[in-house]
Amino acid sequence: MNPAPIDALVQALLAEFQEDPRGRRAAQRLSAYAEAHEDWKRFAHFKPDTYTRNLVARNEHFEMLVLCWSPGQASPIHDHAGQHCWMGILDGVVEETQFEFPAETGGPLRERATRSFSRGKVAYIHDDIGLHRVRPGPGSFGVSLHLYSKPIDTCRVFDPATGAVLEKTLLYHSVAGVLAAR
Ligand code: SIN
Repeated sequence: MNPAPIDALVQALLAEFQEDPRGRRAAQRLSAYAEAHEDWKRFAHFKPDTYTRNLVARNEHFEMLVLCWSPGQASPIHDHAGQHCWMGILDGVVEETQFEFPAETGGPLRERATRSFSRGKVAYIHDDIGLHRVRPGPGSFGVSLHLYSKPIDTCRVFDPATGAVLEKTLLYHSVAGVLAAR
């Protein structure tokens, strides 16, 4: 029997990252998957009080998550612990706003452009590029497929007004489709 499309994507990414840690074809693979398939729905869980992080697969090279965004929810402004982050849109509309890292002396974060992504589009960020905040488009929901290489267990979050930094532990709301006990 053929693997489910999302499992085939994980296998293809694993083979790719074993060859090329930079994952040069990762964006193309996420886009092709997002445009053609819907079996990610078994990983999608929404919560009224927060966006959710739902683990699809994790290995030494990467973790892949389905993130579910209800209208008005948003990630904090954060970095990516030196890792690569791709975000492919599975459904709805998701916005990314980039920010510059604060100066060593602190102070308000300088905001860059906001870009809006719909199904099949893929965004990429790394700490060399800057910080970002992710949220659904105004009044919209969103579902996005995130690929972190390598996995990220903690990141830094930044206060936009002061540039103050906090360490944040990243949790999963579900693992392999099963809701985490809270
Ligand atoms: C997260 O993983 O919780 C935030 C979204 C992102 O960095 O892409």
